[in-house]
Amino acid sequence: MATIKVGMLGIGTVGQGTFRVLTMNYDKILASTGLDIQITKIYNRHPELDRGVDVPEGVYTTDVNDILKNPDIDIVVELIGGVEPASTFIKTALENGKSVVTANKAVIAARGQELAQIAMDHHVLLRFEAAVCGGIPIITSITTALLSNHFEELQGILNGTTNFILTKMEEEGLSYQEALGMAQEKGFAEADPTADVDGLDAANKLSILISLVFGISAPPAQIPTRGISNVSSIDMDFASEMDFRIKMLASAKEENGKVYAAVSPALVPVDHPLASVANEFNAVFLTGNAVDDLMFYGRGAGAMPTGSAVVGDVIGVARKFEKDSDYDLVPQLRYDGGLDFAGEGSGRYYVRMTAPDQPGVLGRITTILGWHNISIDTVVQRPQKKAKGQSSTAPGSATLLFIFQKAEKKVIDRALSEILLDKAVTSVENVMRVVEE
Ligand code: HSE
Repeated sequence: MATIKVGMLGIGTVGQGTFRVLTMNYDKILASTGLDIQITKIYNRHPELDRGVDVPEGVYTTDVNDILKNPDIDIVVELIGGVEPASTFIKTALENGKSVVTANKAVIAARGQELAQIAMDHHVLLRFEAAVCGGIPIITSITTALLSNHFEELQGILNGTTNFILTKMEEEGLSYQEALGMAQEKGFAEADPTADVDGLDAANKLSILISLVFGISAPPAQIPTRGISNVSSIDMDFASEMDFRIKMLASAKEENGKVYAAVSPALVPVDHPLASVANEFNAVFLTGNAVDDLMFYGRGAGAMPTGSAVVGDVIGVARKFEKDSDYDLVPQLRYDGGLDFAGEGSGRYYVRMTAPDQPGVLGRITTILGWHNISIDTVVQRPQKKAKGQSSTAPGSATLLFIFQKAEKKVIDRALSEILLDKAVTSVENVMRVVEE
């Protein structure tokens, strides 16, 4: 039996989950690996707070160096979130010869390359399975069991909070705000839920997957990202009439030496496997040139699923100590793929606009679209109700819903700006990708 001493930074939702998974499955882990994994120190800035876990006396510390520079600690588990100070803590731990396991997608997306190099220089490991899709072992799978494949495309529902919100809006007719409140109560949302609803959380995760799958750097800030706060019941009704479901989709595709990527709400055909992924569940759909279509499905957020991934990484690192060899493959961020990152690329898009309900408006819109060679696949007009007290003969406004045929997103953006400048429409309310059958 080998005793592995773990120092954990943070005891929030994921920290509590990690502690519980290790306690709950201690016997199973010991029996199958011979590893006696002990959390011997926890960095907790507020030891007075009840965390709902039975932490033995003397384990909490308010001095992070009790862990980072403690010669008795073998593995540091970083679960405090955010880029700083987490990134500095990870760096210090690696430089002090400790392997690090983290659930921190923001750090890996922003500093993964630098930290992976520091880990290599100090002959220690950096693992981050829990950073993408919580309990789903997507990183280990891509970098080990699926390594023999070349992937051209991946699409994922990488954020549980937005999937939960969109599901509740669709199925229960809840407003966006009501559904967000429920997601927060259930503990899926980030401390600042704008990271979820504006798409940054998904962009961080997509950036990590792009490095693993395509071997290039796609910094989250360069991934075109649109959030879900503009999705309305009008979009939901239209999607349902046209046999789509609205999902917050992270997608990346390789075409002619370039990688295109985006995070955006999207219309997904109801018979696409991703359309059936509901509530807080996450999924990654990808096609390998050997394995063909695959879909990973599971809980992408929450204490226990994320704790499961963290403990899996701790066991992986600990087994490596034991064997003292490179017997298993280590998930490596890669930047040697020889491809260029080229933004959003082209596709079919849904656009909702509000326009004055007057003769000629549709003609002006379609003329401008025609100048840009954008062809319309579907157009629907919904008259808007007049405001209370507004004369029945006063010009009203109308909601226009379009699906365009395949076009470059930057050309669509240009055309929409010109339509707005022309005052043909009052506003462009929402733009979503349309996923091919
Ligand atoms: N807030 C994230 C989500 C969970 O809702 O998916 C952790 O990444």
